[in-house]
Amino acid sequence: VRAADTGPVSQMDWPALRAAVDGCQACGLGRTRRNTVFGVGHMQAHLMAVGEAPGEQEDREGEPFVGAAGQLLDRMLAALGLTREAAEPARQVFIANTLKCRPPHNRNPQPDELAQCQPFLERQVALVQPRVILAMGRFAVQSLLGTDAPIGRLRGTVHQWQGRPLIVTYHPAYLLRQPADKARAWDDLCLAASCLDAAARP
Ligand code: URA
Repeated sequence: VRAADTGPVSQMDWPALRAAVDGCQACGLGRTRRNTVFGVGHMQAHLMAVGEAPGEQEDREGEPFVGAAGQLLDRMLAALGLTREAAEPARQVFIANTLKCRPPHNRNPQPDELAQCQPFLERQVALVQPRVILAMGRFAVQSLLGTDAPIGRLRGTVHQWQGRPLIVTYHPAYLLRQPADKARAWDDLCLAASCLDAAARP
């Protein structure tokens, strides 16, 4: 992906990246979205959580995970002492999506959309430099780990993404439909928190 006058995405600073996302028409979602959903949180957050794509409410508000799934995510993060708003990077989480635009009727992201949007996510990770990445759900995992394996097989171990620990967990919207898996997701968040602690030690 290359934005008109600003050079490759892999070299963009925050303002250029945001402008490139806002102006992106690389796939058809650029025509149907109301707002792009860039991501939110501290620019040096220690934890980066990656979801799937904006839903209706996120598309309306331009912020990720503001609907019911987001409320669940916020509660789980808060139980670990992490919030989107904390002042210190160590208590902050940067929340991003694999796709920055809403697929119509919340359909699944398509391969070309994931491919076009991936450089934006990669640049966000490179700029935030999180100590730990939390990949939530099948599309975040597909995008970052390049595998179709089910979440149930991938969770519970520490993966690596470009030298950073990456933890796989269920998507919060899935947990709303399958509350029996919340205990496993909680274990995953605790694993992410223990990676954060380990990364904080000298
Ligand atoms: N689901 C996601 O994956 N991302 C959002 O921002 C909202 C719901």
